[in-house]
Amino acid sequence: MDIGISEAARKKVADDLQDFLASTYALYLKTQNFHWNVVGPEFFSLHVLFEKHYENMAEAVDEIAERIRALGFFVDASFSSFKKRSSVSEPHGKVSFKKMIIELIKGHEAISRMGRPLITKSQALHEDITADMVIKRLTFHEKAAWMLRSHLAK
Ligand SMILES: [Fe+2]
Repeated sequence: MDIGISEAARKKVADDLQDFLASTYALYLKTQNFHWNVVGPEFFSLHVLFEKHYENMAEAVDEIAERIRALGFFVDASFSSFKKRSSVSEPHGKVSFKKMIIELIKGHEAISRMGRPLITKSQALHEDITADMVIKRLTFHEKAAWMLRSHLAK
């Protein structure tokens, strides 16, 4: 395989993408959990908003995983490996709708924090395709965080 980037560089990017995939998957599941379990006065708008967000992440995990394959590596995809690699915490017990919003904001922000160094690292390794994909992912996560934050504004 020769796409103009060394195997070592491809591997560095793919390893980070694997963590990015795990976190995106964890936030996807957490958002879907909250879509199912939300109750309260804002039920309908949150139920719909959470659905829009998890649908976006459902497509994203496929795109991220396939980028790992295009870089020449297999995808580590199981609940145990995702849990080990993810920066997004799992929900526990009954969660109020306000706490759901806060938890999801934290998840989107955690993905932004892990994505930023991945963009600069990918660019430094001349892997602009991954950089471009991650830039698009952060555009989504930061917009989603803004929309969620707006539900908390007084
Ligand atoms: Fe649904």
